[in-house]
Amino acid sequence: MLVLGIESSCDETAAAIVRDGREVLADIVASQNDVHARYGGVVPELASRAHILHVVPVLDEALRVANVRLSDIDGIAVTNAPGLVGALLVGLQTAKSLAWVTGKPLVDVHHLQGHLSAIYLEPHAPPMPHLALIVSGGHTSLVMVNNHGSVEEIGATRDDAAGEAFDKGAKLLGLGYPGGAVIDRLARRGNSAAIKFSKSMASKHTWDFSFSGLKTALLHHVRDHGVPEDIDGQQMADLCASYQAAIVEVLVRKTRTLARWRRIEHVQICGGVAANGALRAAMTAAGEEDGFEVYIPPSNRCTDNAAMIAVAGYQRLLAGHRAALDLNAHPSSPLPKAATI
Ligand code: KG4
Ligand code: ZN
Repeated sequence: MLVLGIESSCDETAAAIVRDGREVLADIVASQNDVHARYGGVVPELASRAHILHVVPVLDEALRVANVRLSDIDGIAVTNAPGLVGALLVGLQTAKSLAWVTGKPLVDVHHLQGHLSAIYLEPHAPPMPHLALIVSGGHTSLVMVNNHGSVEEIGATRDDAAGEAFDKGAKLLGLGYPGGAVIDRLARRGNSAAIKFSKSMASKHTWDFSFSGLKTALLHHVRDHGVPEDIDGQQMADLCASYQAAIVEVLVRKTRTLARWRRIEHVQICGGVAANGALRAAMTAAGEEDGFEVYIPPSNRCTDNAAMIAVAGYQRLLAGHRAALDLNAHPSSPLPKAATI
């Protein structure tokens, strides 16, 4: 079955064509980093406009690379929640128009379900059930994945998401947007023990996360010591490494504690922050020490892409889900607890 995936929930316009939920024939992503960089964050209206400009060329490119025609596609999967409403509507309207003209089935995909599905494009994927840490620009959640589309949320962030902590930290340090990848790169040369940041957690007794205190700690550090002048200097590298380490430490600690507690043997990490080198290394090391297997998609499938939407859509089509042409966008739809999505 050939599934066309379309993703436009934030600042990436993406289209992908995936065969049988496993074989990627095309995976095209048009990033809007240049559009938003000067504002230090995504500007929703500009994101919508850029999606409108990119969506048809990205779709054409996906069909060209996959060497298939629209009439060869068996189903159309589109992200309809959560995200920026204007951004979501561009991909959604495109998918609905394609479904209408081709008569092919349309299926809605929750963006986080997409992130959870990216790992199934890899030769080595986690069995069900498994534990997943979803870490993106908008979400930080620990969920049990019982089956494709059936999840139970155990913990979530109470304030900023891990990606937001990276992005806001980077903004404070004048490193531009999006900040996660920049902090990751600069931190590689830094000493993560150089600055002691307070632990970024809600409390020891919950599975929830909290990153706003860490952000404030960085703000206080910058107020007291200033921002290092040389972006490529050692001081900046140390600051990035220390800040990053505080985020990674709590993500890994809560995940491994939960894995131990529930005797979980398989853990995946997904979402944009799972591209982070330090997080990948620390979670892999924790798995080796504690005896659970760690699964992480390649970096380009951690950040937003449409291949993951096509995989999730494929699973939903197999399960019999179909969306009507009055399908709407839901900007703040949470990952349903203990429900089939
Ligand atoms: O999943 P994603 O592409 O979009 C959302 O669903 O939000 O995640 C984007 C987030 C941004 O906050 C970005 O800074 C972060 O992922 N990110 C990273 C890295 N690459 C992207 N954070 C840390 N290290 C990275 N290498
Ligand atoms: Zn995402």
